[in-house]
Amino acid sequence: MADVTVIEVGPRDGLQNEKRIVPTDDKLALIALLRAARLPRLEITAFVSPKWVPQMADHEAVLRGTPPADGLIRSVLVPNERGAQAALAIGVEELAVFTSASETFARKNINCSISDSIGRFAPVAELARRNGVRLRGYVSCTVECPYEGPIAPQAAEDVAIALFELGCVEVSLADTIGRATPSGVDAMLTAVTARLPSARLACHFHDTFGHALNNIDIALAHGIGIFDSAVGGLGGCPYAPGAAGNLSTLPLVRHLENRGLSTGIDMARLKDAETFAARLRS
Ligand code: HMG
Ligand code: MG
Repeated sequence: MADVTVIEVGPRDGLQNEKRIVPTDDKLALIALLRAARLPRLEITAFVSPKWVPQMADHEAVLRGTPPADGLIRSVLVPNERGAQAALAIGVEELAVFTSASETFARKNINCSISDSIGRFAPVAELARRNGVRLRGYVSCTVECPYEGPIAPQAAEDVAIALFELGCVEVSLADTIGRATPSGVDAMLTAVTARLPSARLACHFHDTFGHALNNIDIALAHGIGIFDSAVGGLGGCPYAPGAAGNLSTLPLVRHLENRGLSTGIDMARLKDAETFAARLRS
């Protein structure tokens, strides 16, 4: 049993932001390499509108091409009931809904208010329950927003609570544009962990300004042990101007293992995946 869980989001968060559309076969080859590296949880695609994110238009083919395996959780992003139904029809272990602590970012990214997004997720939660799959929630812009600037810790806390009330088993707190400093993350996590169990929280750091590993240390100090990262530091969000790559998986795993925290990941195989991911960059 690993001390820390690393969730690989590269095939989704990484490839959604590449300028060119990465061919489905290349996505599947990357996923196969990540599986070989024993990443226990993979966010493989997004069942979102192809008009909004054309890079994820092949979501059905990617999910079909990634068969289930013992001990592997295949997760997909879904913005609404339609996405959830389509993913469940193929078969998946986890649905991930996503909203924001910033009203402006919610409108730019999913074209509705925060409160409407929670309402939209209710039928997704019901489908997850009925089908016995995990429901994960994301809160974007928990510290900084590309449109509104600094976000009050209370806003992140309120949205995380709403996602748990909906039925999420885990909520991932995101620094969408990588602008959050360790002190900002500390303030946000102090607020959120005062009301919610750290064992059910994850952190999702982008690394635009090189703060992500310091922010990981802050999260560890708050008792958080689930982290999202993307192979080769791929990533960003098309609706978050300035967002650079996600925290890169290999340096994250090294950082954790240097602190004596096991991840269960095969580093040599992870390097193979990183080399391949570099070839997919635009
Ligand atoms: P909308 O335009 O308000 O809604 O979009 P709509 O119902 O009018 O749908 C628009 C079109 O999309 C329609 O097509 C629908 O049928 C279709 P048309 O009739 O015009 O031909 N559509 C769908 N197609 C496929 N699958 C679906 C689906 N739903 C509708 N599920 C909507 C609202 C939420 C759909 C849109 O805003 C959307 O898809 N947004 C997704 C944006 C996105 O994926 N952003 C990146 C991921 S989030 C992220 O990166 C942050 C994260 O990493 C954490 C962090 O770092 O902060 C998670
Ligand atoms: Mg992200």
